[in-house]
Amino acid sequence: MKKFYITTPVYYVNSKPHIGHSYTQVACDTVARFMRQLGHEVFFMTGSDEHGEKIEKTTLERGYKKGEEKRFVDEIVPVFKDLWAKLGIKYDYFIRTTDDYHIKAVQAILQKLYKDGKIYKKVYKGWFCTPCETFWSENQAPGGICPDCKRPIERLDETNYFFKTSEYQKWLIEYIDKNPGFIRPDFRKNEVLGFLKEELLDLCISRPKSRMSWGIEIPFDKDYVTYVWFDALVNYISGAGYPHDMERFGNLWPADFHVIGKDILRHHAVYWPIILHAAGIEPPKSIFAHGWWVIKGEKMSKSKGNVVDPIELVTKYGVDPYRYFLLREVNFGLDGTFSEEALITRYNSDLANDLGNLLSRTLSMVDKYFEGKVPEITGHGSRVTGYDNLKNKALNLSAELERSIPNFDFVTALTKIWEVIDIANKLIEDSKPWNLAKEKKTDDLASLMSGLIDALKTIAISIYPFMPETSEKMKNQLGMKDGSGKVRSSGPLFPRIETK
Ligand code: MSP
Repeated sequence: MKKFYITTPVYYVNSKPHIGHSYTQVACDTVARFMRQLGHEVFFMTGSDEHGEKIEKTTLERGYKKGEEKRFVDEIVPVFKDLWAKLGIKYDYFIRTTDDYHIKAVQAILQKLYKDGKIYKKVYKGWFCTPCETFWSENQAPGGICPDCKRPIERLDETNYFFKTSEYQKWLIEYIDKNPGFIRPDFRKNEVLGFLKEELLDLCISRPKSRMSWGIEIPFDKDYVTYVWFDALVNYISGAGYPHDMERFGNLWPADFHVIGKDILRHHAVYWPIILHAAGIEPPKSIFAHGWWVIKGEKMSKSKGNVVDPIELVTKYGVDPYRYFLLREVNFGLDGTFSEEALITRYNSDLANDLGNLLSRTLSMVDKYFEGKVPEITGHGSRVTGYDNLKNKALNLSAELERSIPNFDFVTALTKIWEVIDIANKLIEDSKPWNLAKEKKTDDLASLMSGLIDALKTIAISIYPFMPETSEKMKNQLGMKDGSGKVRSSGPLFPRIETK
């Protein structure tokens, strides 16, 4: 059976990762864990984008010499890998665009397109945004300002290789129309179609070595290297085995999801499918663009100097609360405002109060009334009002999660899990187990406790993709690991954070 193949972008390793980067990782990791839980074979790939002007420039700024780019990236890549390990990101493969097989794959595709007459050389006279490494026409960049990064663009007069992107404009529009799930969310699809209403320019896919030499050499002209975006996009197929292991590739491609941020949608939804189509390869099944984390109204980014360091946050609040916050606070697809206060509020109310308390009070009642052994129930369920409602909600939960998580609707998934938590907490308050104990209604008390423990087991399993460590802790405390039927309470899951 074909594996479920999900990717993150390959990140530029010119600076430390910030929460924007970790966002895609956490989202993909959650979906990948969920799919594995359902029994699918999963291939989750992430990696690093190591060529191009940005890296060349940073290498020099950091005191390395020209030609030492590889040494520089070799030092930064582990910083990314360490963070992913810390955040519990369980990827299956890490691709580096300086890997040998990747370089060969890029050259193989270029050679094929060149042989098929899809690549030509011409003198380019026009506008160029250096930080974005993007060519713009006069119309696209009114006032000499880059429409993406809003910085001034420059005149450029240079001979380069171009890929006949324009030939495929009509094909792509039809493809997007015929495949409604191809670009998601839906409003992003409309943005891409809007962009495609304008004339699509042929894509410049080379850089003369005389200007920028840190890249993959063009196989048919040793004076040029490949444009970094062409190089980077190919990672999605080279990492899956193209063309060196076509059997593996056949088992992975087309990718189920490329998950990206909205700023790199055009590269993924316009250029990438066209490159693939021209090379005779199917497009990915779906591209999902998420929004940005903004801080005081501005996109968090290195160049703005307003980045929040994920390491600091997880050291203070823990990995799982951080993962939970990112996916619970904002609908995936929309922009979100980051603030530490918002994280603390979520932590105290959803995690410490709702989930943490439910577990600790239930376990302490099982300890107190049944000596830590989950009572077996015989005969009728419980006459306690609200008990059936809890059972049903918990039973329906997995279907709800199967609908929402593979569609990146994390907010709905978590809301549904929290509905079960809320109902369980309310059931305790309404049924007052301490009174049942006093009145010696042992059957009712036993079935109530066993119902609560069952609900908690369902919750422990359901939160696994989002908060894997907490899920493990809960499974231990609920005795799910050893089958003894004994619970083992061991301190609060989420100690409250006191705020002044
Ligand atoms: N190297 C390219 C991607 C090539 S993929 C074939 C690149 N790298 S990046 O490191 O600059 O950005 C990687 C991802 O981080 C992008 O998807 C971008 O949207 C995301 N984020 C960067 N800042 C972000 C926020 N402030 N918020 C959310 N995500 C943002 O682009």
